[in-house]
Amino acid sequence: MTDHRPTESTMGDPFFSVDRLQTHFPIRRGVLRRVVGAVQAVDGVSFGIERGETLGLVGESGCGKTTVGRSLLRLVEPTGGQVRLGGVDVRQVSGRQLRALRRRMQVVFQDPYGSLNPRMTVRGILEEGLIVHRMGSASERVERMQRALERTGMPADALRRYPHEFSGGQRQRIAIARALVLEPEFLVLDEPVSALDVSIQAQVVNLLVDLRKDLGLTYLFISHDLSVVEYLSDRVAVMYLGRFVETATAAKLYAAPLHPYTQALFSAVPSVDPERRRSRIILAGDVPSPSRPPSGCRFHPRCPLAESVCGEVDPPEVAVDGHRVHCHVAARAVDQAGGDTAAASRQIAELIAKQVPPAQATAAASV
Ligand SMILES: Nc1ncnc2c1ncn2[C@@H]1O[C@H](COP(=O)(O)OP(=O)(O)OP(=O)(O)O)[C@@H](O)[C@H]1O
Ligand code: SF4
Ligand SMILES: [Mg+2]
Repeated sequence: MTDHRPTESTMGDPFFSVDRLQTHFPIRRGVLRRVVGAVQAVDGVSFGIERGETLGLVGESGCGKTTVGRSLLRLVEPTGGQVRLGGVDVRQVSGRQLRALRRRMQVVFQDPYGSLNPRMTVRGILEEGLIVHRMGSASERVERMQRALERTGMPADALRRYPHEFSGGQRQRIAIARALVLEPEFLVLDEPVSALDVSIQAQVVNLLVDLRKDLGLTYLFISHDLSVVEYLSDRVAVMYLGRFVETATAAKLYAAPLHPYTQALFSAVPSVDPERRRSRIILAGDVPSPSRPPSGCRFHPRCPLAESVCGEVDPPEVAVDGHRVHCHVAARAVDQAGGDTAAASRQIAELIAKQVPPAQATAAASV
């Protein structure tokens, strides 16, 4: 078995490269279903994923995480921007080429109950994709399905059985096997363990870690569980209202978050490490509607550090050694600290602590 995780030499060769991805959903009204607006679910997101890397994606409910994943796979059609997978322009392909591309990119959803057709046997569920993609003869298909089940820790006789005969954890293993049987390179894992019992979650997370290593897979891992994201991800992107506000390696992001929103999110994670223990930052207000996002920095109506410029000017990206952040105040703190992101992170935490006495709290930031 080979470890395909990125090394110094393969880093910098993007497997996925996403440039200003935009996915807006039209809002229609009246009998004529006229378009009266748009939900800006994803609005100008740029990032890359290296081969063998796991990019974690976190952010509050409704911020656009699932839409990013679905847009990469063209399960929803992006309305702007560019997505390239290994040199192929994903938005331009159609017909047979699109089918071939889709085989390389699979998705595992949160709900192992809803995502498997209860009227089909596991064989029917796993074989569907193989038939669509014309992969192998009948006997080769059975072999492939048995291999995929074995890899996910399922008994081979599972093929004859129905989803209801399995536990939640086993169903999620079947959903993973359904993706694996097509020999994909890239998986979007959309909250793959959130619906499972806590005792089962670790087993499925470890299975995902092993599969990535053994098969050289690349993951986009979406989760509300910041601890699981840290464990599984090489890098993590924080999303707020359709935008990526901060991206860094998991180690850097969790140790030295720069964006005030990231600081608020992570302050809710209990830590045994005294260095990382932070006072809980409670944000006021709710997430605004993605159909009418605030001007300037989208976080400004809730941000304890907002200045007048924040409501007017969209903060440009500032990057220090791959740690990227969109925030006027963070940019200044990084500059004043001479590029020392740990010092800048501490300074921002102190500024927030002065602004947000816990007693004034009205609503907690949570993912
Ligand atoms: N097909 C669709 N049509 C219209 N609006 C949509 C569609 N899919 C998603 N949205 C809207 O886009 C926004 C982003 O949704 P998305 O499901 O991507 O968020 P999320 O971050 O995955 O949330 P959660 O954590 O709850 O899964 C939401 O406002 C949602 O209502
Ligand atoms: S740009 Fe301004 S409003 Fe936005 S996160 Fe930074 S300080 Fe807060
Ligand atoms: Mg989602």
